[in-house]
Amino acid sequence: MVNSATTAVAPVFNVVGFAGSLRSGSYNRALLRTAKDLAPPSLQIMICELDGIPLYNDDIETAGAPPSVVRLREAVRESDALLIATPEYNHGIPGVLKNTIDWLSRPPRNNALNGKIAAVMGASLGMTGTARGQAQLRQALGATNTYALLQPEVLVAHAHEKFDADGRLTHQATREVLATFLQRFIDLITLHVRAEARITA
Ligand code: FNR
Repeated sequence: MVNSATTAVAPVFNVVGFAGSLRSGSYNRALLRTAKDLAPPSLQIMICELDGIPLYNDDIETAGAPPSVVRLREAVRESDALLIATPEYNHGIPGVLKNTIDWLSRPPRNNALNGKIAAVMGASLGMTGTARGQAQLRQALGATNTYALLQPEVLVAHAHEKFDADGRLTHQATREVLATFLQRFIDLITLHVRAEARITA
């Protein structure tokens, strides 16, 4: 949580990040790692993996959410914001990511996403750099009352040309967009925290 939003000390925001890919060599996880590296000290990004999240089934939910889901829900609930890196599968988001959002959106009231701040970005092999996938992700976030940063967009097209074999983002212009995006993300979280402080004052 925020350590100080009212004093001269810069607040530190804790962000949960996840990538909608289970692939070990995922460009989106590499993008998330790059964001973590480029982020200023005021933005602490904790990367979570989605491997253990089962397919959503209301019977499982009713019997008690699995530990992997409980852990992710708690991490999201305790965070100041979410950072999601999405691939694009067939012009949409991968099932693994939609499934995670569906779990996080339950129960309908008082769930971990309700009122949360988020930022979305993505990398794909195609020329649109996840534009359609991100649009679909924003639609799902709208349904969960999650406020996603609008601009700048981080659309990493032709990802195989922008990362090296070790998953380092070597494309300088993309690194610069990502740095600006992280700063705007901090601005959005700051605004949200101030608004919340006014509401609860
Ligand atoms: C893809 N890919 C893809 N790329 C794209 O730009 N637009 C698309 O619609 C699709 N569709 C698609 C469907 C499926 C089922 C797969 C497996 C792949 C390619 C995709 O961009 C590529 O696999 C990325 O590397 C996926 O992201 P990660 O796993 O590297 O993070």
